Amino acid sequence: MLEKIKQTTNFIKQHVSFNPEIGIILGTGLGQLAEKITIEHSMEYSEIPNFPVSTVEGHQGRLIFGILGGKKVVALQGRFHYYEGYSMDEVTFPVRVLKFLGISYLLVSNASGGLNPAYKIGDLMVITDHINLFPTNPLIGKNINELGPRFPDMSEAYNKKMIANAKEIAADKGISLQYGVYAGVSGPTFETPAEYKYIRIIGADAVGMSTVPEIIVARHMNIPCFGMSVITDVGVEGQIVEVSHEEVQEAAALAAPNLLTIFEALIAKI
Ligand code: HPA
Repeated sequence: MLEKIKQTTNFIKQHVSFNPEIGIILGTGLGQLAEKITIEHSMEYSEIPNFPVSTVEGHQGRLIFGILGGKKVVALQGRFHYYEGYSMDEVTFPVRVLKFLGISYLLVSNASGGLNPAYKIGDLMVITDHINLFPTNPLIGKNINELGPRFPDMSEAYNKKMIANAKEIAADKGISLQYGVYAGVSGPTFETPAEYKYIRIIGADAVGMSTVPEIIVARHMNIPCFGMSVITDVGVEGQIVEVSHEEVQEAAALAAPNLLTIFEALIAKI
């Protein structure tokens, strides 16, 4: 694993001379953040050795290097999901590469189903914590001590300072935000009404099929993380209707501009 990470990082460094400070993962329907980045270099995932290739519609596969909020960033436009059949090592590989490229912060976005009855489609939720409901954990197996400890602390999975900064920025710009717990599930099925209810009862405000594995490996490497979800459908009893991937993409794209405004201002503050 370590050799692969180093090989990929060396390949990227040979092709792109750029030292990013901040890593960004663009979730479903949120690829338009890339338009806000002043792009200096970009690489297709297919060109990068050891990188998996994204198979889901709405996820491009491109690594972007550029300037956002006055800072050097590297963005993963398109992520790898466990439901696509990738192993957890594959799902999280790009995050490890970002660390070796030099990032000191990670900002993550996703689309999710709202469970908190106060949430509406199109709301933005700052992720304050998560619950790992994937059937596994990306750190299972022999620990790679060069990356981090055997038993990583998760008491501040989502950086409190960045959450506080996001709150200030939102107040300043008149953007309303929700704050809540994200439950990560494998998918690819959306939840049954009983599953939505269960996930709500155990303490989640939103549910989605990504993010948790990436945050776990990032925290293993001690990277401060910030995450934001777009609520693209609602899993609240009495309000549950049929949901499709297309609707999720559309709702995410509509809420994307405010999410991007927060990300940009947050990065400027780092
Ligand atoms: N459930 C799981 N994942 C999702 C959902 C949902 O309702 N919406 C968007 N991603």
